[in-house]
Amino acid sequence: MTDAFPFPQDFLWGVASAGHQVEGSNVNSDVWFLEHLPGTMFSEPSGDALDHYHRYREDIALIASLGFTSYRFSLEWARIEPEEGLFSQAELNHYRRVLEACHEHGLTPVVTFHHFASPRWLLAVGGWEGPRTAALFARYCDRVMAHLGDLIGVACTLNEPNLPWLLKSFGIGGEAPENRGSVPVWAAAAERLGVDPSTIAPFQFSSTEAGFDVKLAAHRAATAAIKARRPELPVGWTLANSDIQSIDGGSETAGQVRRDVNERFLEASRGDDFVGIQTYGRTVYGPDGLAPAPEGAATNQMGEEIYPQALGTTIREAARIAGIPVIVTENGLATEDDTQRVDYLRAAVDSVASCLADGIDVRGYIAWTAFDNYEWVFGYRPKFGLIGVDRTTQERIPKDSARWLGGLAQEHAVQA
Ligand code: NOJ
Repeated sequence: MTDAFPFPQDFLWGVASAGHQVEGSNVNSDVWFLEHLPGTMFSEPSGDALDHYHRYREDIALIASLGFTSYRFSLEWARIEPEEGLFSQAELNHYRRVLEACHEHGLTPVVTFHHFASPRWLLAVGGWEGPRTAALFARYCDRVMAHLGDLIGVACTLNEPNLPWLLKSFGIGGEAPENRGSVPVWAAAAERLGVDPSTIAPFQFSSTEAGFDVKLAAHRAATAAIKARRPELPVGWTLANSDIQSIDGGSETAGQVRRDVNERFLEASRGDDFVGIQTYGRTVYGPDGLAPAPEGAATNQMGEEIYPQALGTTIREAARIAGIPVIVTENGLATEDDTQRVDYLRAAVDSVASCLADGIDVRGYIAWTAFDNYEWVFGYRPKFGLIGVDRTTQERIPKDSARWLGGLAQEHAVQA
């Protein structure tokens, strides 16, 4: 299928990263702060990460040399606005150089304005449930656009605003505001920030109605700010869309989660230029909640079933509900076995090809992730990268999967 079907000429073939996971020393961010708190859910701190902050030139050259046509990366709000209202020209210049490097190497930059990490100061003013957050985020987006807007290829406002609802269904985070004081990490955060624990609302862990409203308002205000500077720039948000299924006794829970996590956010995407879909597998609910992977199923490094065909299902769901173009902004597998990764990517790309063959408007396939990196609460153990990294020497080691997908990108880019 992948060899025969002509992908559109301007189809984006890329790999993705996110600032906090690769840059290193994101010391003014709320995630860095949480990583170092007593009771933290992070298994290790991010530290130097991959030192991508200093190595971006070589990293971008390597991505291009493998055959990709696009690089998705994120800007760190905590670097650009380390104190409320104080914007760093030096950091804006840094990201300008990153964008210039993409253009020098022929990569379309897909830029995420917010990928989980926020400035630490935002957490002290209500985080992602705070009444001022949407306007503060839009002001930051406006500053970014004023300095970098001419170089951005595609703009993603928020990354996975729906994730906390999915995590809550797995029993992670999602505490009601009045119960947060009894969770050690939130109590410690509140104490250090000198605020009431009920107001602690980091992006990834709050799933209240207020959190939904703030994120949607932030996305809309950011879209308006970006469009005000460059009306023709494609703008959307990127969602975590699992293929949600049920076995006997689980259909009610599955229906509820599908509604909270997929449908609600896809409906809210209507009117955007595109929606980014980030699918890794399926989530199956039974009578006791999340069902374990089926007997004998191959699993990833987190013990989840490997199920690449989920991507086609979620692309179709997104196109049907949102009714706008889709970009696969993330898709990948955590494994030490790169042959398994190639098989996974091949099956996933086949499912994209079949969506295209059915007339669905898919604009790109961007794999997660460029480099083995900091997988948030799981630390550095999961290996999602198409390029390995020796973190003692910071040497980059491309895997067969990088050569395979980059080769496919070149074939289609050339054939088209
Ligand atoms: C989604 C997130 O955007 C990214 O940061 C994360 O590393 C991957 N999924 C893999 O879990």
